[in-house]
Amino acid sequence: MEIAPIPTDAYKLGFIGAGKMAESIARGVVLSGVLPPSRIRTAAHSNQLRANAFESFGVQVFPRNEDVVEDSDVIIFSVKPQVVKDAVLQLKPLLSKKKLLVSVAAGVKLKDLQTRT
Ligand SMILES: NC(=O)c1ccc[n+]([C@@H]2O[C@H](COP(=O)([O-])OP(=O)(O)OC[C@H]3O[C@@H](n4cnc5c(N)ncnc54)[C@H](OP(=O)(O)O)[C@@H]3O)[C@@H](O)[C@H]2O)c1
Repeated sequence: MEIAPIPTDAYKLGFIGAGKMAESIARGVVLSGVLPPSRIRTAAHSNQLRANAFESFGVQVFPRNEDVVEDSDVIIFSVKPQVVKDAVLQLKPLLSKKKLLVSVAAGVKLKDLQTRT
């Protein structure tokens, strides 16, 4: 697999799945000074309260997962394990080699993401 460099000084971090885990990571990233909230984005699936939670500390919430992928360099899949496959397939056309994919879903390995993209 060919690897493209991620710009460490300007990369943007996106979350697919605006749940509790994503919020915890995003808050940690901001509080530790790794990234400002302006460089973090997500999309709320069906629950506006999740959008509110992210917007409350400055994270941009887009209408669609596709918008998150298009505007992110590093993409963390933070949906439930049984949703990962469908989410990856939905986004597959946008997942170029320039995007670094990460999964925090229990039991989903990097290999699983690679074979689906
Ligand atoms: N919580 C933890 O302590 C923990 C620890 C380690 C690993 N993890 C892993 O982290 C992942 C997320 O866990 P969580 O506790 O954060 O769960 P969660 O709070 O239920 O978050 C999952 C989010 O994904 C959204 N979602 C569902 N289908 C989607 C889709 N097709 N596209 C985009 N978003 C979608 C859900 O939105 P709706 O509710 O609106 O459907 C929900 O906001 C899991 O795979 C879990 O194994 C969690």
